[in-house]
This record gives sequence, C-alpha cells and structure tokens, in this order.
Amino acid sequence: VPVIVPPGVAFLNGHFTAENIITKTTRSGDLVGVFQDDAAWRALPADTPIYQVEMLQSPQGEGELFVGTTHLNPGRVGDEFYMTRGHFHQRREQGEVYFGLRGSGLLLLQSEQGEARLEQVSPGSVHIIPGNTAHRLINTGSEVLSALAVWPTIAGHDYASLAQGFKQRVFLREGKIQAKEVQNG
Ligand code: F6R
Ligand code: ZN
Repeated sequence: VPVIVPPGVAFLNGHFTAENIITKTTRSGDLVGVFQDDAAWRALPADTPIYQVEMLQSPQGEGELFVGTTHLNPGRVGDEFYMTRGHFHQRREQGEVYFGLRGSGLLLLQSEQGEARLEQVSPGSVHIIPGNTAHRLINTGSEVLSALAVWPTIAGHDYASLAQGFKQRVFLREGKIQAKEVQNG
C-alpha cells in the first residue's frame, strides 16, 4: 500500500504544514460586548486582528472530527487580556481536546451551572474539555498563544448562551495576572 505523508503541525509556531488550510480571522470589531471595558474596546480600531483559526479539511458527519489551531494574539483591551469569544457546543454533550503549542495563557472552562475553572495553557499541555462545558482561551503572555483543538464535526457552536458572559475575567493589574469573579459578564 502507498505510505501517505499526513499533514503536520510545526511545534515552533503551531502552523499546519498542509495544503488546503482554511483560516478565519476574528477582529476586535467582531467581539461586541466581549470585553468588560467598553470604552477601551471602542478605542481599538475595529479591524485589529485578535485571533485566527486555521483548520484542516476533514470529512464531516456523525463520528467525524475537526482539527483546528487557534492563534490568539497577545494584548489587552483596557487591562483585560485578549481572549476568544468562547462557546458551549450546540450539541451540549460533545467534548473537545485542546493541546498547547506555543505561548502561555489560560483555558477558562464553565459548566451550565456557572461553575468556572482555569487551566494553565503552555507548550505541551493537554486539556480535556468535557461535554456541557463552555470554553474560552485567554492569552496572558507576550507572544502568540497557539493551541490545537480536536472536536466532533457535529458539535456546532452556541455563542448566544454566553451573552451574559463567563463568570471569570482575567486582568493585568499591578503588574500581576489576576482572575476575578464577575457577576454578569
Ligand atoms: C471549536 C473550538 C475552537 C474555537 C476557537 C475560536 O469547538 O473550541 O476551535 O472555535 O478557539 O473560539 P470561538 O469559536 O469561541 O470564537
Ligand atoms: Zn469548542
């Protein structure tokens, strides 16, 4: 049988070494109501890139998996670190695995009951996101945070259920990374 060379991921920068990569950039202007400091968010040019997701092409349907890497830029809106929008899966019971590739940050996880926890993301860290758990990446470092994700193609995204926001926000205050509980977003 022929031996196939599969796509690779470059450990140095987290980019896929494959053709037919699909990429999507999320800019500041896309993240309405995501950051706490609305004035600071408005002051940022709307086309400021915040994160990029690159995805391999894979079959879709029951039992199939997506593979994608998120590259989250370093930066802050006011004193709050750049982060992804974050979501539950549309199919709530579907889990996901994240794998840290470069940079340093946090993975914010939150149950349907609103219980939040944070996991440290670093090159080589493995994160098991169970079903029924919302998830968001936060870049607390000074370089790009890249993390590879694998998730069922049937999972889908539900952003609306988090319109109230997550229960934790992460800031740089007095030179320290500080996670704070917040009431409503
Ligand atoms: C897929 C997944 C990631 C995120 C990506 C961008 O289920 O968790 O690939 O989609 O990190 O974050 P969102 O989708 O929250 O804008
Ligand atoms: Zn997900």
